[in-house]
Amino acid sequence: MTEPLIALHDVTKDYVSAAGVVHALRAIDIDIMPGEFVAIVGTSGSGKSTLMNILGCLDRPTHGTYTLAGFDVGARTNDGRAIVRNRLIGFIFQGFNLLPRTTALENVELPLSYRGVAASTRRARAEKALTAVGLQGRMDHTPNQLSGGQQQRVAIARALVTDPPLLLADEPTGNLDTRTSLEVLALLQRLNRDLGITICLVTHEHDIAACASRVITFRDGRIVSDVRQDEPKDAARELQLLGPAEESKAEHSEEDPKVARLRRIGGPLPFAVYAMMFVGALLGLGVGAFYNSLVLGFKVAWIPPASALLGEAILGARYAKSRLGRPLTHDQRIRAALYYTLGTVVLWGAMTALTMPDPMWKAILPLAGAKLAVFGLGILGVVLASALVRYGLLWAFSPRLRKLQPKPST
Ligand SMILES: Nc1ncnc2c1ncn2[C@@H]1O[C@H](COP(=O)(O)OP(=O)(O)OP(=O)(O)O)[C@@H](O)[C@H]1O
Ligand SMILES: [Mg+2]
Repeated sequence: MTEPLIALHDVTKDYVSAAGVVHALRAIDIDIMPGEFVAIVGTSGSGKSTLMNILGCLDRPTHGTYTLAGFDVGARTNDGRAIVRNRLIGFIFQGFNLLPRTTALENVELPLSYRGVAASTRRARAEKALTAVGLQGRMDHTPNQLSGGQQQRVAIARALVTDPPLLLADEPTGNLDTRTSLEVLALLQRLNRDLGITICLVTHEHDIAACASRVITFRDGRIVSDVRQDEPKDAARELQLLGPAEESKAEHSEEDPKVARLRRIGGPLPFAVYAMMFVGALLGLGVGAFYNSLVLGFKVAWIPPASALLGEAILGARYAKSRLGRPLTHDQRIRAALYYTLGTVVLWGAMTALTMPDPMWKAILPLAGAKLAVFGLGILGVVLASALVRYGLLWAFSPRLRKLQPKPST
């Protein structure tokens, strides 16, 4: 006979406050075996979240013992519980709790960063977890570029990335509509079935509880019923019965061409990106001049302009990434390079014209015919070449977007 993964014995939780004592949990006994899918239901205030906090080692019982995978959690120090939590438990919350302005991939990598996993391993494991939840095409999106269901799937990937044997979810579908709830549930059922992950999930909805293999009902801090469901509903089948919907069709087949195009070109570039490039150019010029005079002690003409080009590309690409939440797209790099070059040509042209000495004017103004054409082409060539260099540098400093991959049908 296998050991229970979770064993609560005579667990009581009292909250003491100025208003008096609240008996949130009263003498609870629960054993949960590995591989179970348990739904916790009950009216508001019945103690469900209190139970989840104890199961998740975020809180400890007032009385009683909690054993998780053989560890007596209550007997451990705060640090000891944090280790148990980190190794054995994945959390999913109602509000997703993703970091904004941080890509799905980086959000999922986070629990591994806390563990000190090397960057390349972190990335590979986060990509695997996102693929497992069907989000391989959305890894570079920030939470505000994802639907509610997709955000919750990112949160599930984040919970999964450490390979925990236990997933705890407090109302994971509370913020989602029926269809999206079923999609998230189908995913959880698949993880439970295929990977044997034990799941404990709090819900208010009967349809969700119907998909669990066991339903525990709370009232007033006590268990009032504990029922096994031999044939739980299959969320994937329920989803099929709902029939196709506009939104889910878009998610599971090809992207809408209009949306795909907009995604590819990445939308307009904020003016601030150009301003940042300008600041970068000035900083670069300064560094170049500094290097010439203080390090070399003589002037090398190409150093300041080259470091200006580098400065603007580094600052522009980095700022664009933090502002847009992802690297510049191919189209955005072209636009950034072209518009910025045109801007500097106008600025620089005007300044040169105003400060050019008379002899030079006298040499240029009489130009006509073939000579004027060569002069014009020369200028055009310089402009295009500098735009090209800018494009190349922006490309080097903004890691390219991963290609969109088709999703496997679930
Ligand atoms: N930190 C706290 N201090 C004092 N009382 C608390 C605290 N946390 C919860 N309680 C009380 O404990 C009882 C159980 O709360 P709990 O959050 O577990 O309910 P719940 O079943 O999760 O409810 P809901 O469905 O509304 O989320 C409630 O009466 C609540 O007011
Ligand atoms: Mg609650």
